[in-house]
Amino acid sequence: MPSLNDIRSTFLNYFEKQGHAVVPSSPLVPRNDPTLMFVNSGMVQFKNLFTGLERRDYTRATTAQKCVRAGGKHNDLDNVGYTARHHTFFEMLGNFSFGDYFKHEAIPFAWQLITQEFGIPKDRLYVTVYHTDDEAFDIWKKVGVPEGRIIRIATSDNFWQMGPTGPCGPCTEIFYDHGDHIWGGPPGSPEEDGDRFIEIWNIVFMQNEQFEDGSMVDLDMQSIDTGMGLERIGALLQGSHDNYDTDLFKTLIEASADATGVDPYGDQNVHHRVIADHLRSTSFLIADGVMPSNDGRGYVLRRIMRRAMRHAHLLGAKDPVMHRLVPSLVQQMGAAYPELGQAQALITETLEAEETRFKQTLDRGLKLLDDALADLPDDSDLPGATAFKLYDTYGFPLDLTQDALREKGRGVDTDGFDAAMAEQKAKARAAWSGSGEAADATVWFDVADKDGTTDFLGYDTETAEGQIVALVVDGAAQATAAEGAQVQIALNQTPFYAESGGQVGDAGIIRTENGTAAVTDTRKTAGVFIHIATVTKGSLSKGEAAVLEVDHARRTAIRANHSATHLLHEALRGALGEHVAQRGSLNAPDRLRFDFSHGKAMSLDELSQVEAEVNAYIRQNAAVDTRIMTPDDARALGAQALFGEKYGDEVRVVSMGRAEGSGKGTGGDTYSLELCGGTHVRQTGDIGAFVTLGDSASSAGVRRIEALTGQAALDYLRAQDHLLAEAALELKAPAQEVPARIKSLLEDRKTLAAEVAQLRQELAMGGGAGKRHDLTVSGGTVELKLFKNFPAKQLRETIDKLKQSGQADAYIVLATDGGKTAIGVGSTKGDALNAVDLLKPVVAEFGGKGGGGRPDMAQGGAPVDLSDASEQDVADRIAKALKG
Ligand code: ALA
Repeated sequence: MPSLNDIRSTFLNYFEKQGHAVVPSSPLVPRNDPTLMFVNSGMVQFKNLFTGLERRDYTRATTAQKCVRAGGKHNDLDNVGYTARHHTFFEMLGNFSFGDYFKHEAIPFAWQLITQEFGIPKDRLYVTVYHTDDEAFDIWKKVGVPEGRIIRIATSDNFWQMGPTGPCGPCTEIFYDHGDHIWGGPPGSPEEDGDRFIEIWNIVFMQNEQFEDGSMVDLDMQSIDTGMGLERIGALLQGSHDNYDTDLFKTLIEASADATGVDPYGDQNVHHRVIADHLRSTSFLIADGVMPSNDGRGYVLRRIMRRAMRHAHLLGAKDPVMHRLVPSLVQQMGAAYPELGQAQALITETLEAEETRFKQTLDRGLKLLDDALADLPDDSDLPGATAFKLYDTYGFPLDLTQDALREKGRGVDTDGFDAAMAEQKAKARAAWSGSGEAADATVWFDVADKDGTTDFLGYDTETAEGQIVALVVDGAAQATAAEGAQVQIALNQTPFYAESGGQVGDAGIIRTENGTAAVTDTRKTAGVFIHIATVTKGSLSKGEAAVLEVDHARRTAIRANHSATHLLHEALRGALGEHVAQRGSLNAPDRLRFDFSHGKAMSLDELSQVEAEVNAYIRQNAAVDTRIMTPDDARALGAQALFGEKYGDEVRVVSMGRAEGSGKGTGGDTYSLELCGGTHVRQTGDIGAFVTLGDSASSAGVRRIEALTGQAALDYLRAQDHLLAEAALELKAPAQEVPARIKSLLEDRKTLAAEVAQLRQELAMGGGAGKRHDLTVSGGTVELKLFKNFPAKQLRETIDKLKQSGQADAYIVLATDGGKTAIGVGSTKGDALNAVDLLKPVVAEFGGKGGGGRPDMAQGGAPVDLSDASEQDVADRIAKALKG
């Protein structure tokens, strides 16, 4: 009997032999379709190939595509466990032609595969065609299907559309008759909903495109898109009509039985089925980057997880169960989907954390539910307010409550639930507007209410498509924003990081069919990501699909700076002590800044030690790892949390670097472990290099380090090197001798300065050749001196020396320097020959003001330049001034 793995391989090998490229499954989160929550069919990743928008180097492809139908339009969650064929996760096998072959090849390919490779008896098979498709009818006849088994169907069942718009076309479906022991009739008959005739393969003839205005046009190319559910064909080939009877599901169901100690196939079987199905969808979603949260995709994941956990609880499990089943799943599916094995640790931890936390409220919630039901008449629905309390206080998603009530044949008053939810939102909004935050926050609350919060895709990708849900110009919502408008744009999902935790918001480009906007920053309010932009071309309109591209170089630099901040934090704790805690940070594209608690300036040695350590961890090039867990678990692991920061139900824990024996992390060897919502490098080596620009005081008890990484660090070092080379050139010395040279130059300078001062004194004392200009005034003799290029600060000392020389009773010295003249007077006979009295007329003569001192020493100045004046003229002017 072929296993599901065998069947998958047979399918892919068969089409590979027919010239098809075997293309890996795309991730479950669609990158190219903003309106789709999860990939739900094989053609999603090829959507743009059918319309001719995109070309690849193959025109035939085959895939086994991971699909989730648990949110949005296709939602099978409620039925899982209770039916033979509903799943939240399944694999769709498909072959595709992009303008290559069409009906004449596609039908024989399918017929040969199922009748020969799979060996399905022809007399069990029926096919349907779209009622007007005579061509397909004839081809089926030609391959050997009797006319009586080719059924024409006029309904949308045989016209396949991926959604309200997009590529579409008539289809043909292959049905298998499980035999008359099962109730049901062939397609198109009144009993077609029974379980006897089961559709196993849908072959779509992609030839049209549907537009929003209702029009439909023929596509230029004719293409093929097919889909066969692996679980269904597996059941059939393993002799059952129940997907949960296949080898893969039996293994998972038995693992669940082992973990809970409850018979796998007894009357508790439904719970094991739910667990097996939900284990697959949750594990694959986590492996593709979805994390449990209270919004969007993350909330769908959380709902599936909690639904599974309630069923584990119904099996009597006291401790978390789901995470213990992950090895079985990886063993079954890890070869076909390597991402599952790569993410095994993350899946296990995420499941365990979620289950541990949910267990704390599950019992109390279920008791509340039972008590509420006991007080109600037998057939009435659970009041909405109670369902809301279960949701709000006990973490019961609405569909979990509905699932629990289903077993009791009850429902929920969903209108009442919605009303209670709306009331709570109104309260939250009131609290916000009272908090004094930006006034136009209201507009974003409206967006959050109506369109939900923004799904952030930027941990995994820098480009994605989104749908514009709001355009705000000057604080008011608009339908369009024209060229030149400064606009704030919200989309249902985005790869742009919104400023938080010290990391600046992303910049980049948003493009629609009709316009382009340059985004300079991204912020968030009420969970809505606000892209701050200018429309640079055309116009943008609400409702349009847009391609979002984060400025890659800028984000790369920001990422490197943010990861370096984590390494720096740890290195500082190592060098300075455990008291070091983050007090603030900035992770911008051009630099990083880190404020931390520490009482004194860092020494050069400490700084170099820290810088060297950070660089050592960069060179280690260890993987940077991100996990989601409860804040308590994160702290128990030793993660650094921000002081005073409020954390939600779950936190992201970012770890990087291997440090043997640090005792942190699950492996006991993680170097840095921090709670952080930012974006980070994949490997520490991506940081490139790290250079500190020094440490300074930020506020009392808080120091600040600024630093550079990557290219900026290298540019900085290069610039420093250049400065050194210039200095060396000036000194005509090799670079390594520059400091010694500077030191010796400074010493020389000091010696020379002393010598110059000495010489000036000597000159002033009469050592010079100049003629003496003496005056006799009443009271004694006065000697006049004019010094050129003579610093004013040396004036006083010179006058003292002159006084000691005893050549006159008083001295008038003019020192002219730098366009000004300082005037000093010294007197040895202060009573008879007052220095101040001598000074005043001289100062006035040269146009100065003020000046003064004591009888023995007075000083003033004038704004004149006497460097070109003759000594005789100056002497004459002074003589005249004194006489006057
Ligand atoms: N895209 C087609 C389907 O999902 C094959 O059924």
